[in-house]
Amino acid sequence: MTEDANLAAPHNDIPASVSDRVTVDVHLGPGELDQALRHDVHTGLTADPKELPPKWFYDEHGSALFDKITRLSEYYQTEAERSILSERAAELVALTQADTIVELGSGTSDKTRTVLDEATSNGALERFIPFDVSEEFLREAANMLAARYPRLRVHGVVGDFDRHLANIPTGGRRLIMLLGGTIGNYPLAERRQFLNEIVAGMRPGDHFLVGVDLVKDPARIELAYNDPAGVTEAFNKNVLGVINRKLGADFDLDGFDHIAFFDDEHEWIEILLRSEDDQQVHIPELDLDVRFAAGEYMRTEISAKFRQDGFEDELADAGLHPVAWWTDANNDFAVSVAARR
Ligand code: SAH
Ligand code: AVI
Repeated sequence: MTEDANLAAPHNDIPASVSDRVTVDVHLGPGELDQALRHDVHTGLTADPKELPPKWFYDEHGSALFDKITRLSEYYQTEAERSILSERAAELVALTQADTIVELGSGTSDKTRTVLDEATSNGALERFIPFDVSEEFLREAANMLAARYPRLRVHGVVGDFDRHLANIPTGGRRLIMLLGGTIGNYPLAERRQFLNEIVAGMRPGDHFLVGVDLVKDPARIELAYNDPAGVTEAFNKNVLGVINRKLGADFDLDGFDHIAFFDDEHEWIEILLRSEDDQQVHIPELDLDVRFAAGEYMRTEISAKFRQDGFEDELADAGLHPVAWWTDANNDFAVSVAARR
């Protein structure tokens, strides 16, 4: 379904000069979103061990909490990636010559502006395609960017990485970006599948840019996911809040502890919720009662950390040819650029 953003935009004060250049395709409307949530919650909470996929963190409240995480001093990743993008924007634009930028998991598209500034003023950029599961944030970002770049067409896509990558508009010379270390939220086998699907939609001459958090002192990584202000804890528990709000469940968020630790073997941060006591949760929309034992863990996310060799091998396995590896001054984070072979 394609809607005119002017009709559906959250604010009615968007000038026509902006809304004329904004389109939003919604492949994941409220109905489909609810159905997918019901499926994942039923599967995840009846499994042993219990597990919930991280995509359900990002309702409006969760997206706002993530935005707050990106501004925490402990969460070094956002500023590290921003510094790389701003330092390398001109080189990137010259290298890719893109007329279209696709951003997967775009969120607020805040750091992306560094690249868009350069690509609109000194490059050939005509079109920006943000893709995200979080519709409100995507609409807001799409309108904001169209206002900031008066000649840019913004074609948003509301969809799920796992189902809707093939719905991304084609044509032009494209740079596909996946920022923020989001690729690390997939374990290896799923990451391979995700990369293969991204590459399947690319043509020769297209480029893929991906930001990855690097393996480093585990204490620093753990602090980034255990911030003293408790924003990450609230973000983690928000998945229970989403199930309460959408499926009428009665999760007591105070009855769970936020746990995040570095798993040396997998080189990823494991994020869990631990039930404080023996408790039963009722989920009326699923007609389901779920029992949690005292001390029982439920995984809500992993966040893999990378090394250059291993990651570039993964890109090569997916049919990509690595062309740049840029890191920040502290070597905390890397931005990798690859071309389709
Ligand atoms: N790119 C931004 C946001 C990263 S947070 C940054 O670098 O700061 C991850 C983003 O991916 C969120 O905006 C979330 O809504 C989106 N996301 C998570 N899982 C998704 C999925 N399965 N399909 C589409 N978008 C998803
Ligand atoms: C979006 N993603 C890359 C974040 C991460 O660091 O894995 C999500 C996050 N989870 C807790 N804090 C941030």
